[in-house]
Amino acid sequence: MDLVLLEKALLGLFASVVVAIAVSKLRGKRLRLPPGPLPVPVFGNWLQVGDDLNHRNLSTLARRFGDILLLRMGQRNLVVVSSPSLAREVLHTQGVEFGSRTRNVVFDIFTGKGQDMVFTVYGEHWRKMRRIMTVPFFTNKVVQQYRAGWEDEAARVIADVKADPKAATEGIVLRRRLQLMMYNNMYRIMFDRRFESEEDPLFLRLRALNGERSRLAQSFEYNYGDFIPILRPFLRGYLKICKEVKERRLQLFKDYFLEERKNLASTKPTDNAGLKCAIDHILDAEKKGEINEDNVLYIVENINVAAIETTLWSIEWAIAELVNHPEIQQKLRNELDTVLGPGVQITEPDTHKLPYLQAVIKETLRLRMAIPLLVPHMNLHDARLGGYDIPAESKILVNAWWLANNPDNWKKPEEFRPERFLQEEAKVEASGNDSRYLPFGVGRRSCPGIILALPILGITIGRLVQNFELLPPPGQKKLDTAEKGGQFSLHILKHSTIVAKPRVF
Ligand code: HEM
Repeated sequence: MDLVLLEKALLGLFASVVVAIAVSKLRGKRLRLPPGPLPVPVFGNWLQVGDDLNHRNLSTLARRFGDILLLRMGQRNLVVVSSPSLAREVLHTQGVEFGSRTRNVVFDIFTGKGQDMVFTVYGEHWRKMRRIMTVPFFTNKVVQQYRAGWEDEAARVIADVKADPKAATEGIVLRRRLQLMMYNNMYRIMFDRRFESEEDPLFLRLRALNGERSRLAQSFEYNYGDFIPILRPFLRGYLKICKEVKERRLQLFKDYFLEERKNLASTKPTDNAGLKCAIDHILDAEKKGEINEDNVLYIVENINVAAIETTLWSIEWAIAELVNHPEIQQKLRNELDTVLGPGVQITEPDTHKLPYLQAVIKETLRLRMAIPLLVPHMNLHDARLGGYDIPAESKILVNAWWLANNPDNWKKPEEFRPERFLQEEAKVEASGNDSRYLPFGVGRRSCPGIILALPILGITIGRLVQNFELLPPPGQKKLDTAEKGGQFSLHILKHSTIVAKPRVF
């Protein structure tokens, strides 16, 4: 069977070489394509640049080829944008033209070919999904409704860490407890549900399936089948696993969360809007016929991937930087003690009165951007950018990390120095008012979750620093901050052990 496949693949490969040469000859005459390394037939630049197109490798390419460059990855065109002005052009000025998303064979499976919101093309479906999700998730009213819940979750983290004798001596992997907290923060909003402990069996199943989903989607392992379609048959095993994970995951959302909420809604009067959780609003939209049952499931899927890990990674990076910069940690603690009073636990409204805390968060999101290339954009039709022709359906990567870490635009960008956001960069906000700093993107496809992420970051980091001295484990001077990137994600490679010494007030 595999021999037949191989024969077919080789024949297909030969045919593709002929077609690719013919097409490139024709195209080369007509189009003014962005610069980039010279492609070879069929493979394009894939063999030259490899699989790992992370933010650092792409910034090296940008230094060689310029602020806009084209990579041919097999059959796919990949355009990399590396200047603030071109980023603004893609995300804002030509936001409609470049407002779609590329998917690939794996994302097609996990999103039901774009029945979700994050990976759907720019158009009617996206507009409807974004509108339906705004009221239940992305308004200040939601923040006010749930902030007490986030404060409660952070207080429970503090209590659990204080109760663990290991935390103050040999240290603990703090991330594990913070992960439970982030699930609870989001599951309270979505389903009015929380998980009692890290051992809760439902939480364990959910975490395992979400973890598998992220690993499978962010891996580079399947690139070959995505770039060179005739090799796709070799991906059958991989795609089968993706389909199984997807089915099991959506079934879990349905059986344990959505059905329960539907049953509650049928027994309880839901006319009191105050008692509604996000999914009740989404189910209302389904009842009205605005979206279907699958769309509801994909909304739950999107929140699970877009909200929980991204915020958790940012918290984890902030802690790592604060442990490695004790003087910054102490300065933050002094601000909390001075503004709030020693031991007075930070709440959401306080976060606005703490400029150094805000600066620490901004600096973490600058140096350690969770989504350093944004979520890939795409132009549905042929377009023009920076004086070049961009063929339809190109994948557009905006290297937001490089925009925020390019020494031409920032003073000593490699340093973790929150002070920059109180001094020379005091006017720069995370919401995208400056195109050099776009940790949440900007424009139509920008992150709507910023409104929740920033207060959650403030409350969590604030409470940890108020209540503990955070240190590396015994015998270690610094935490290892090596990075692990994926298709477009960035997190810390090693989930460090951290010593949390309780403060006495
Ligand atoms: C620190 C935490 C977070 C970071 C750094 C982050 C970053 C981003 C980025 C860079 C994008 C893509 C922007 C673009 O492609 O132009 C994005 C999209 C998105 N984010 Fe976030 N995000 C975070 C938290 C959240 C949270 C808490 C939620 C939900 C509650 C959320 C929901 C979304 C959604 C739904 C999209 C897709 C928007 C669209 O395609 O229209 N994010 N996020």
